[in-house]
Amino acid sequence: MKNKKKYSNYISISESRKIIRYNIRQMKHYEKLKRRKLDKSEYTVAMRDEGNLIEIDGLKTCFFTDAGTVMSVNGVSFDIPKNKIVGVVGESGCGKSVTSLSIMQLVQSPQGQITEGQIRYNSEELGYDEEGKKLAYDISKMPTKDMYNIRGKDITMIFQEPMTSLNPVFTIGYQLDEVTFLHRPSLPKAEVKEYSIEMLKKVGISMPEHTYKCYPHELSGGMRQRVMIAMALAGDPKLIIADEPTTALDVTIQAQILELLRELQKKQGCSIMLITHDLGVIAEMADVVVVMYAGKVIEKGTAQEIFHNPMHPYTIGLQKSKPLITSDENSPLYSIPGQVPNPINLPNHCYFKNRCSRCTEKCGGEYPREIKVSETHSVSCWLYDNGESADGGER
Ligand SMILES: Nc1ncnc2c1ncn2[C@@H]1O[C@H](COP(=O)(O)OP(=O)(O)OP(=O)(O)O)[C@@H](O)[C@H]1O
Ligand SMILES: [Mg+2]
Repeated sequence: MKNKKKYSNYISISESRKIIRYNIRQMKHYEKLKRRKLDKSEYTVAMRDEGNLIEIDGLKTCFFTDAGTVMSVNGVSFDIPKNKIVGVVGESGCGKSVTSLSIMQLVQSPQGQITEGQIRYNSEELGYDEEGKKLAYDISKMPTKDMYNIRGKDITMIFQEPMTSLNPVFTIGYQLDEVTFLHRPSLPKAEVKEYSIEMLKKVGISMPEHTYKCYPHELSGGMRQRVMIAMALAGDPKLIIADEPTTALDVTIQAQILELLRELQKKQGCSIMLITHDLGVIAEMADVVVVMYAGKVIEKGTAQEIFHNPMHPYTIGLQKSKPLITSDENSPLYSIPGQVPNPINLPNHCYFKNRCSRCTEKCGGEYPREIKVSETHSVSCWLYDNGESADGGER
């Protein structure tokens, strides 16, 4: 029975009660922290680099579920520079969406909570501290009321399935006007309509006046996604989070939407966090690439570094599993063997250990730290850890 318990996901009634009691305690604790009245100085922090729009530092987001605590985002750190496209890749369930929802403060609460870390948003409203460092809002601690001024305006999101994001009982025009009105409350009604039609024109819809009067079901998938992009652009955003924006579209429309996003990014001078499974999309679009695995960033660097010099065995495996025009059509496509570890009981060693073909003795030890390969490229793998600490001494 003991062995059965060890190898199965069986939870006894007493364990289940214990988990529920623990969850209630934790949820109450974090919800209380959120309701606390905070002074602005308590969620204003200094940026590390003024050139970044967002700096995510040691972010941990978890879900308190009946089966235990799911560590969806487990100490993620990366930057989103101004006017750049950051591509986030990783297999299903590695925490890409939860990271983006954390930036928007949209994690499903009370079970989902940001438990640690900072999300620094370089807002133009804030000045500099006494040491001359640019001040930023820490979104992880920011009160919801203040977040309303940023969410949807400075930071917007384009979701995967446009049909589920648009309301089927209202016209496109009504829904666009609502967003425009929210961001520009002083605009007269006639001008709101004009602005909405202008937005539809901007995203390449050829008959904007006609589309304005249409209901979502009257439009094709590509047009609906264009409307979603128009909505995202209505507030003049600094950051657009695109969570798999083209997965529901066919390949030709996918190319058009990506081209549109890139064009708008250049024209508007904003940043994009592009989440996708598709390495081809990342290669074409991104300036910076972040590779995630089981809630952690395992490698990050410029697109050039990640595609021409991938270092982590997982990144190398991901690239090998991509079909190429030159590959032999008779040989089976490479796939990384094994499965991602259970996010409830994560091991203490490297999470990729059991799937890695280059695993060494060291990999059974503690989780590998981040090794800086160049100014922009870093990897978390024991293969590249020669024991030297960042300051040159022994680890
Ligand atoms: N509301 C929730 N309650 C419990 N667990 C959740 C919830 N939302 C996400 N998770 C868990 O968090 C982990 C990360 O999920 P996430 O949606 O971020 O994955 P993803 O990388 O976006 O995957 P995909 O590529 O399939 O969209 C998963 O293990 C998932 O089961
Ligand atoms: Mg997702």
